[in-house]
Amino acid sequence: RKRVVAFISGSGSNMVRLAEACADPDFPAEIVAVFSDKPEAGGLTKAEAFGIPTFVFPRKNYTSKDAHEEAILDELERQQPDIVCLAGYMRLLSGRFISRYEGKILNIHPSLLPLFPGLDTHRRAIEAGMKIAGCTVHFVTEGMDEGPQIVQAAVPVLAGDTPADLAARVLTVEHRAYPLALRLFAEGKVRMEDGRAVVVGAAVGKTVG
Ligand code: GAR
Repeated sequence: RKRVVAFISGSGSNMVRLAEACADPDFPAEIVAVFSDKPEAGGLTKAEAFGIPTFVFPRKNYTSKDAHEEAILDELERQQPDIVCLAGYMRLLSGRFISRYEGKILNIHPSLLPLFPGLDTHRRAIEAGMKIAGCTVHFVTEGMDEGPQIVQAAVPVLAGDTPADLAARVLTVEHRAYPLALRLFAEGKVRMEDGRAVVVGAAVGKTVG
């Protein structure tokens, strides 16, 4: 089974869905550690309930972004992950960090990328008059939310939706999309090549964006 380290900053519901998927012995990956930049992240106690070791790296404990990432990279090295899953990790990783784990870092973003990268995505989707919204699991590259898509899932935008309404609806499909993307990647059915997501074999072609 592939070793996964999940990064969180908040409630960790996506990480929990990954941990639930990994609880199936037939799933091709396991979460070996959860890293957070926020000591108060609700996901930390949820990870502990799964028996997953947690590591917290509060940004304020370090004098610079470099020093912060260095500490994270040191512990990551010890964990020997095959895959890093960003799951609501609200910090941009440096190019140096990403190149160390090139093609092995996945992220989930609550929009249909390349539309609405960055923060406040649901408000912007509503203001743009979108009738559908959704989520994207993608490979992480240096540009924010720019890496190639692995799985996407869509939901309707309903009249009168607030950004919170839409976020909750999108989250329900995030919870299905991330385990699917992790499974495809861990099984070697999709990989990043020349900045694109390449599907290996025809069987999953229809399900991978
Ligand atoms: C999710 O909606 C995730 O897509 C989003 O944060 C939420 C985390 O929820 N991520 C981003 O906005 C990344 N830029 P969770 O902690 O319950 O998984």
